[in-house]
Amino acid sequence: MPIFSKITKDDVIKAFQDRFGGEPDFWVRTPGRVNLIGEHTDYNGGYVFPMTISRSVWMGARARNDGKMRVYSVNYDSELTCDLRAQLVKNQDIWFEYIKGCAWALQEEGRPLAGFDAVLMGDVPMGAGLASSAAMEVTSLLTFSEIGEYELSGQKLAKLGQRAENQWVGVQCGIMDQTICALGQEGKALLIDCNSLEHRLFELPYGTAVAVLDTVTRHSLAASAYNERHEQCEEACRALGIPLLREATQEMLYAGRGGMTDVVFHRARHVISENLRVQTAANALFYNDADLFGKLMNESHWSLRYDFEVSCEELDAMVDIARKHESCLGARMTGGGFGGSVVALLSVMSAGTFAGYVSERYQEKTGKVPNITICRATNGGRVERKS
Ligand code: GLA
Repeated sequence: MPIFSKITKDDVIKAFQDRFGGEPDFWVRTPGRVNLIGEHTDYNGGYVFPMTISRSVWMGARARNDGKMRVYSVNYDSELTCDLRAQLVKNQDIWFEYIKGCAWALQEEGRPLAGFDAVLMGDVPMGAGLASSAAMEVTSLLTFSEIGEYELSGQKLAKLGQRAENQWVGVQCGIMDQTICALGQEGKALLIDCNSLEHRLFELPYGTAVAVLDTVTRHSLAASAYNERHEQCEEACRALGIPLLREATQEMLYAGRGGMTDVVFHRARHVISENLRVQTAANALFYNDADLFGKLMNESHWSLRYDFEVSCEELDAMVDIARKHESCLGARMTGGGFGGSVVALLSVMSAGTFAGYVSERYQEKTGKVPNITICRATNGGRVERKS
């Protein structure tokens, strides 16, 4: 099973040389993430428990003095330019919009923007529920701040990235992805309170490993279904007279059930139970209880499948298959849902045959070849200069 990133800084430097000639002044690397537990809780002010992965989005950049930003995307084989001194305008070049959205968010904060040439490349699979967008946002923000010679804290990076995605790209995402991509640390998972943004690092239980199982299924309605779930949670809050679902208890929900539709009731029930599961999962890690952590992951999948209804056939099939292997302590869909990936907690003692077992059965069942990776958490977004 592949563990390490496919891209290195030498690849980024080479790509820059090929495109623009000469070397970049610096390069930035930001990892994607996998969420262990706590799904669709972030925009409800709740708790999440992600860790970074060893797949990343990279940018190599060199300042230019005419205020233009020119970016070549290696993955899309496409180069786009815009003038950072003029009014920024939205258009259809979706990958570039994430970068422009970050420029806009910085402008709104009154930060100076200076021009640069850059190459962009990454090995975080897109649409796989592994936060390739957030990794690109944090990478872009770090590039702007390095060129502009100012610093942005991890929390500031997260807030700016989320703002770009909410208000420029138009996805009403929460703050989990940008926070972990900016603040993640090697070998650790991060418990985040998405209301206060307080966070705490945890070691994974001794003798376990985290596997990411990409179903290679992507559903085009994912963004609109995501925004719909967000609205349904807000509807539940209105019915319960609270600002955020984080404040609701099961008792309050059942007492207020008459004031909401069945669908809204089930959405809220997921969020409330998931918040409890994340807090229990943190205790489980504290006591090194891998079995309990796995059990909570299984319960989380049930709730996402039946109450929140963001799973799909392929995710359910992958979860079922993974759980049948002897090394699997728990498995669930991860990320926004409607395709993408499953995360599984494995006991390393018997994990040797896991990837082959899952891959074969998933192919038999769906006809698709999955991407199976064992994850190693790497440091969050970082800038490195030429020495
Ligand atoms: C996407 C969003 C996150 C979060 C998850 C679901 O990854 O970007 O903010 O809401 O979905 O937990």
